[in-house]
Amino acid sequence: MTSNMGGASSRLDYANKVMLAPMVRIGTLPARLLALDYGADVVYCEELIDHSMLRCQRVENELLDTIDFIKEQAHHPVFRTCAKEKDRVVFQMGTADPERALKVAKLVEGDVAGIDVNMGCPKEYSTKGGMGAALLSNPEKIKQILTTLVNGVSIPVTCKIRILPKLEDTLSLVKLIESTGVAAVAVHGRFKEERPRHPVHADVIKAITQTVSIPVIANGGSGDCIKRYEDIQRFREATGASSVMLARAAQWNFSIFRPEGMLPPDDVIRDYLRYAIDYDNVALNSKYILQQILQAEQQSPRGQKLLATQSLREMCALWNMVDYYDEVMVRRQARREELERKKGL
Ligand code: FNR
Repeated sequence: MTSNMGGASSRLDYANKVMLAPMVRIGTLPARLLALDYGADVVYCEELIDHSMLRCQRVENELLDTIDFIKEQAHHPVFRTCAKEKDRVVFQMGTADPERALKVAKLVEGDVAGIDVNMGCPKEYSTKGGMGAALLSNPEKIKQILTTLVNGVSIPVTCKIRILPKLEDTLSLVKLIESTGVAAVAVHGRFKEERPRHPVHADVIKAITQTVSIPVIANGGSGDCIKRYEDIQRFREATGASSVMLARAAQWNFSIFRPEGMLPPDDVIRDYLRYAIDYDNVALNSKYILQQILQAEQQSPRGQKLLATQSLREMCALWNMVDYYDEVMVRRQARREELERKKGL
C-alpha cells in the first residue's frame, strides 16, 4: 500500500510492470484512469513541452478534485491529474535544456510518481529545438539533462529512447543513461527513421537488457507482436525486458490491459466517456480518442455522427449516456454553488 500522508508516498518501482506509453492527444487524464482501471500498472501522460509547462500555474481545482497546470486566461489545463493516479502517473516532458527541465520537474514533482524525458519522438514538434529523438545524437546533453533531474527531484527519473543504427552505439548510449542514476530506461525498438509498419527490433532490446542493470521497459510491439493481453508476456520474454509499454494497442482498445480479456469497443467507449465527463475533458480531445477506438467503424453512420459532434453531451447521445452526463452536471452545479457559498463566508 502506498501512503500519501505527509508526502511520504513510496517510490515508483519500474520492474515487472505493464505500462500505458506516452501518446500525444491520447494520454490525457480520462484515458490514463481507464488504462489503470483495466490493469495497467503505470501510465505516462502525453509529452508536454517544457516551454509550455513553464507558462502554467499549479491550481487545485476543488470543483473536479483535480490538480490543474493551466496557462493564464486559458479555459483548459495543459496538464490535469488527480489523487487516483498520483502514485502511478509518469510525467513525460519534451526538453532540450537541463535548467528548464528541472523547473518543470519541480513544478509537477509533488503531484506525479515519476518524470520521463522524451528522447525518441521523431516528429517535428518534438525534434525542433533539439528535443525528442534529436537528443539521441547529443549524449552530452542527455547526460546534463538526466543528471540535473536525478539530482534535483525526489521522485524517479527515466527517459524513453529509440535505438541507434549501430548496436554498439546503442549500448554505449544506454550505459551513459544508466550512469546518470535514472530509475529505468524505456526503449522503443526502432530506428529514428523507421515507421510503425517496420518490424520492431526485439533483439536489440534484448542486448540492452543484458548491458544495463536498471529495469528496461520494452516498447514497439503493438500490432505485429501484441494484439491481446497474453502477447504482452510473450513480448516481455522475446525482449528479455522487465516491463512492457503499450502505445497503439492501447489506443485502439484500452482494455488490452485486462487479464480477463478485451472488451468490445462500445464498452470501452462508455467507460471512457464516464471519465471524460467526470473530469470535464476537452470535447475535441475526447472525440479524437473515440475515433481511434472506432477505427474502421469511423465510416459507419455512427462514426459519421461522431464526426459532427461538438460537445461531450452530443457524444454521450450516440452511446446512450445522456442521463449520466446530465446527472453529473446537476451534481457539479450543486458543488459549484456550495464552493461559492463557502468562499462568500
Ligand atoms: C506516440 N509516441 C510517443 N512517444 C513519446 O515518447 N511521447 C509521445 O508523446 C508520443 N506520442 C505518440 C502519439 C501517438 C498517437 C502514437 C501512436 C505514438 C510513440 C509511442 O509512445 C511508442 O513509442 C510507439 O507507438 C511504439 O509503441 P507501440 O505503438 O508499438 O506500442
